[in-house]
Amino acid sequence: MSNNDVSLPDEQPALRMLPMPRDLNAAGDIFGGWVMAQVDVAGSIAAMRRTRCRVVTVAVNSFVFRQPITTQYLVSFYSRVARVGRTSITVDVEVYAETGYENLEVLKVAEAQLTYVAVAEDGNKRVIAQDPV
Ligand SMILES: CC(C)(COP(=O)(O)OP(=O)(O)OC[C@H]1O[C@@H](n2cnc3c(N)ncnc32)[C@H](O)[C@@H]1OP(=O)(O)O)[C@@H](O)C(=O)NCCC(=O)NCCS
Repeated sequence: MSNNDVSLPDEQPALRMLPMPRDLNAAGDIFGGWVMAQVDVAGSIAAMRRTRCRVVTVAVNSFVFRQPITTQYLVSFYSRVARVGRTSITVDVEVYAETGYENLEVLKVAEAQLTYVAVAEDGNKRVIAQDPV
């Protein structure tokens, strides 16, 4: 448990990243667009693993930033499939950051929901198999 009562989810993240100085904004915090890009990747990983095909992002349904972070944090992105439609799949992504070695601090950084569409080689939508392989 961290010192602010936030703990990491008890599951494997889709993605973990260490932001670099190039990912900072002018105020010295991690640029929100960097977080959004990683969220899109983390959500697409869950979507691809469920659909077993290429997916494209069709919509960011919601995106909330809760805490700013700096380069001192290891950032973890947790993705869960929320809904599988005919050709679309909606994924919830939660972002946590941890820092400190002896005194672990964990923050909830952001949460988002994105929708992806399964596409064939030609880029046109395709039906998602309802029973995962
Ligand atoms: C995504 C794309 C293939 C959809 O093609 P389309 O033939 O117009 O698709 P439709 O409008 O019939 O919608 C397909 C599915 O997406 C869903 N969808 C479409 N727009 C949506 C939106 N704004 N929010 C949520 N879901 C949406 C539809 O409900 C449908 O889901 P369902 O089949 O599960 O019911 C096409 O719009 C596209 O290529 N967009 C660009 C994608 C892109 O470049 N993304 C960024 C880089 S990955």
